[in-house]
Amino acid sequence: MTKSLWGGRFGEKQDDFFFQFNESFSFDRRLATVDILGSLAYARGLERAGIFRSDELELVCAGLNELLEQVEKDPTFIEQGLRDHYEDVHSFVEFELTKKVGALGKKLHTGRSRNDQVATDLRLYLRQEIDQTVALIQDLQETLVSKAQEFPQVVMPGYTHLQKAQPILLAHYLLSYYEMLKRDAARLLDARKRVNVLPLGSGALSGNSVAIDRKFLAEQLDFEGITANSLDATSDRDFAIEFMSAASLCMVHLSRLSEDLILYSTDEFQLVRMGDQVSTGSSLMPQKKNPDALELIRGKTGRVIGHQMALLTTLKGLPSCYNKDLQEDKEALFGSVDTLKACLQVMRLVIDTMTINVERMQQEALKGYMNATDLADYFVDKGVPFREAHHLVGEIVVFALKKGLSLSEMALKDYLSFSPLVEPDVYQALEIKSVLNRKASAGGTSPLRVQAALQQAKIELGL
Ligand code: ARG
Repeated sequence: MTKSLWGGRFGEKQDDFFFQFNESFSFDRRLATVDILGSLAYARGLERAGIFRSDELELVCAGLNELLEQVEKDPTFIEQGLRDHYEDVHSFVEFELTKKVGALGKKLHTGRSRNDQVATDLRLYLRQEIDQTVALIQDLQETLVSKAQEFPQVVMPGYTHLQKAQPILLAHYLLSYYEMLKRDAARLLDARKRVNVLPLGSGALSGNSVAIDRKFLAEQLDFEGITANSLDATSDRDFAIEFMSAASLCMVHLSRLSEDLILYSTDEFQLVRMGDQVSTGSSLMPQKKNPDALELIRGKTGRVIGHQMALLTTLKGLPSCYNKDLQEDKEALFGSVDTLKACLQVMRLVIDTMTINVERMQQEALKGYMNATDLADYFVDKGVPFREAHHLVGEIVVFALKKGLSLSEMALKDYLSFSPLVEPDVYQALEIKSVLNRKASAGGTSPLRVQAALQQAKIELGL
């Protein structure tokens, strides 16, 4: 026997295969807690509207609270619900409540539809998940900041086009991801404002026919406000899309960081070493240590972007108001939430257990003519227009390359053969220290700027 909240109009039993196709309890059971919380608020609203007497309300609330405890503390309770073939979480809660409080349980749905109910559940759920996700983002930011603090002076090669470009501080590199994550958290918190609006009391589409006080419901459930239009309220999933979009972007950041670290940990780069805690071996090649944690984060980014595309695609052709297509929102949203949260935690572990190959970083930062721009700047200081200086240094680099020398190793007389303006102070200008110090513009990699950025990050994180 399947358990549904309707049936009066039907003569024949629902097809078993169709039941499986139609049911959502197998995945929306994760909304059980918020569904009960929503029902507790709605029951109080019904009392104010004169539908429940106060003694009836007490009974219903006691039943719902008991249910809440079972759902939260006894995993076998939901498992039994799955075996009992409930159509969805709302049916589960109503039937189980009715088992406890009899006909009063059936009164609870007065004026309410699963359409405003599920929209409310989803917002309650997502509000919590956003808060948890933002906390996880902050944990990762803290880990990045503490890694940066461990190595405030370490220099590494900075790349553009994946070619050595200019030396940067490792701390500056780590803080660049701190900034991306800061925007991710801000986006989630901004989306939260639009999640935190109550649709309950909108009925199936046109409103609630009992005198339900929606502002009271919103207060009960700690919503900032109430939705303004019942047709919109019951079918709006913008808030889910907004979350998924912020989640996709956050995953893109995690994926780029993964890609960096996968490369930096190769034998070719050797800038970092992954912790054994987050690496795996090969079943065939005994020497292998693979950065699976990072590859999975990079891989799962596709999944989160895919969920967002799936829901956008589901929404695009929907006629106004609720359509069953909307049931498809849940697995996509849950998938994004779960994946993002897991990836944030794994990335934190990766950063925390990663070893920085300080020597190699410093050595590599000296190679690749990464101070060539600074040589051009040196000529600029001597009055040469930048474009000319750029050309001149290009020629000097070709010369040095042929001789197998770095710019610091080139003899003064060789410099003089290119330009009479070069003086012995050129060697100081080419030193990595000077190179870094020169990048003193706000947001640059000079040690002073990076130190200030670190302090700022700590203030922002409340450390
Ligand atoms: N399981 C449904 C969903 O997730 C609940 C709402 C059902 N509403 C309805 N009118 N059939 O969307």
